[in-house]
Amino acid sequence: MAGVVEYFDELIATDQRVEPRDWMPDAYRATLIRQIAQHAHSEIIGMQPEANWLTRAPSLARKAILLAKVQDEAGHGLYLYAAAETLGVPRDELVDALLLGRHKYSSIFNYPTLSWADVGTIGWLVDGAAIVNQVPLTRCSYGPYARAMVRICKEESFHQRQGYDVLYTLTRGTREQRRMAQESVDRWWYPSLAMFGPPDAASTHSEQSMAWGIKRHSNDDLRQRFVDLCVPQAEVLGVTLPDPDLRWNDERGHYDFTPPDYDELMAVVAGDGPANRDRMRHRRRAHDQHQWVRDAAAAYAEKNR
Ligand code: ACO
Repeated sequence: MAGVVEYFDELIATDQRVEPRDWMPDAYRATLIRQIAQHAHSEIIGMQPEANWLTRAPSLARKAILLAKVQDEAGHGLYLYAAAETLGVPRDELVDALLLGRHKYSSIFNYPTLSWADVGTIGWLVDGAAIVNQVPLTRCSYGPYARAMVRICKEESFHQRQGYDVLYTLTRGTREQRRMAQESVDRWWYPSLAMFGPPDAASTHSEQSMAWGIKRHSNDDLRQRFVDLCVPQAEVLGVTLPDPDLRWNDERGHYDFTPPDYDELMAVVAGDGPANRDRMRHRRRAHDQHQWVRDAAAAYAEKNR
C-alpha cells in the first residue's frame, strides 16, 4: 500500500497524469466523479436553451451552425460520461443521479433564452467563460479528463466564435437589432460571471482540488481572467457591460468589477432558478421517451456478442 500511495504523491508532485489503473485516494476519485459528472450533465442540459431557437434561426446558415453546435454539446456530454466511467462508476448511475436531482449541473443553463440575440450572447459569454474555465483542465492531473478537455476546448472555441459573430452582425444591424443585442448582454453578464462558482473564501473544494492538480486556478482568478478578456471584446462589439464600476485598475493590472450575486447563484444551484423545473422536466421526459433507443442498442449489442 505504501508504495502506491507514494507513487500517487509522486505523480501529483511531478505534474504527471494519474491513469485509471493507478491507485488513487478515495476522496480524489470522488471529487473527480463529482466534477466530471457535473460537467457532463451541464453539457447535456446545456443543449436545451439554444435548441429552443433551432426552429427560429434567422437563416439556413445560422440554423445549420446552431444545429452543429447543439450536437457538439451532446458529444461533449458523452466524452465526459466516458471519462467518468473510467473511475469505476457506470453511466446509468450518473444519469440517474442527474434525473433524481442528486447531482448538480451548471447554474447558467437555468436561465431562459428570450431572444435570438441570446444565441449570440451564450456563444460569446457562456462558451467564453467555459473556455477560460476549461483550458486549464486540459492539464488536469487525471489523464482521461485532461484528454477529453482538449477536443472539447477546440469545439468550444468554435462555439464562442459563432456567438461573437451573431452578436457582431446584430450590433451592425438596425437599431432594433442593436437594442436586442444589448438587452441580451445585460441579462447574461452576471449569470456568466457566476458560472465560475462561489468566491474563493466560500469555495468548498478549491483548495484540495488545486493541491491535487484537478483545478489549476481558483474560481476568483478565472473570473478575473474572463472579465479582462471580455472588456476589449465588448468594445469591438459596441455593447456596454452592465457594470458601472467596471474600470481598469493600473495597480492591480486588471479590471475592477462588481461580483455577481452569490445568493442568487446558490438559489439557482439549489433548484430555484428561472428555468430549473422546465429543464429537468424536459430531460426526464426525453429520457423516458427514448428508452426504446437504449433497449434497441442493448438488444443489438447482445445479438452481436
Ligand atoms: N453551477 C452549479 N454548481 C456550482 C457552480 C455553478 N456555476 N459553481 C459551484 N457550484 C457548486 C459546486 O459543484 C459545489 O457543490 P457540491 O459541493 O455540492 O458538489 C459548490 O457549488 C461549491 O463550489 P466549489 O467548492 O467552488 O466547487 P468546485 O471546486 O467543483 O468548482 C467549478 C466549481 C469551477 C464549476 C468546477 O467544478 C469546474 O471547473 N467544473 C468543470 C467545468 C464545468 O462543469 N463546466 C460546466 C459548464 S460550462 C459548459 O458546459 C458550456
